[in-house]
Amino acid sequence: MFSVKRREQFQFTSRMQKCMSVLRLLWGADEFLSLFLYRVRSALHDHGVPILPRLLYYANSFLYGMRIGDHVIIDAGLYLPHGQVVIDGITRIGRQCMIAPWSTIGLVAGNAMGPTIESGVIVGTGAKVLGNVTIGTGARIGANAVVLKDVPAGATVVGVPARIIESGEGAEA
Ligand SMILES: CC(C)(COP(=O)(O)OP(=O)(O)OC[C@H]1O[C@@H](n2cnc3c(N)ncnc32)[C@H](O)[C@@H]1OP(=O)(O)O)[C@@H](O)C(=O)NCCC(=O)NCCS
Repeated sequence: MFSVKRREQFQFTSRMQKCMSVLRLLWGADEFLSLFLYRVRSALHDHGVPILPRLLYYANSFLYGMRIGDHVIIDAGLYLPHGQVVIDGITRIGRQCMIAPWSTIGLVAGNAMGPTIESGVIVGTGAKVLGNVTIGTGARIGANAVVLKDVPAGATVVGVPARIIESGEGAEA
């Protein structure tokens, strides 16, 4: 996803080519490094390694403003232009989503369940998606929107509180 979004080569004929691309992204795209740190942290956490996951959390938070809670599941292909994102709660981010900077995906008071964001969702800069809501596949959340209710698949929502300006396939307008 990072290569696609950066209009770089994204299909590789050899493992070496793939490794070179990962190294180039780690060097040239700090948000990719940030996601990489998160993946390493999750892997260490899953293997019961102590202390190191927490240190990686602090490094990610300090360097990139990325604060991703321990109960967040992020599927493959997340694109995070510029980092600076908070994701917390029992929350799932589906495949190939994009989350722009200064967004929060998290909780409302008194409920540990966070949002379920299905695949291909775009979250605009400064948006907040809060509580136990489901954002349907391919939905778009406008910049600075505050989403407190489910968003149908393919819909576009904007504003505070968010309202639908374009309904997707099968969505209720
Ligand atoms: C929500 C969004 C996806 C809609 O894009 P679009 O389909 O091209 O919509 P349009 O620009 O045609 O706007 C449609 C209407 O919604 C309004 N609108 C669009 N985005 C809005 C927003 N974030 N908040 C409030 N209103 C918004 C427009 O003013 C327009 O209103 P009008 O019909 O009364 O004139 C886009 O505006 C957006 O917010 N994208 C996020 C971009 C971003 O965060 N980039 C960061 C990259 S790092």
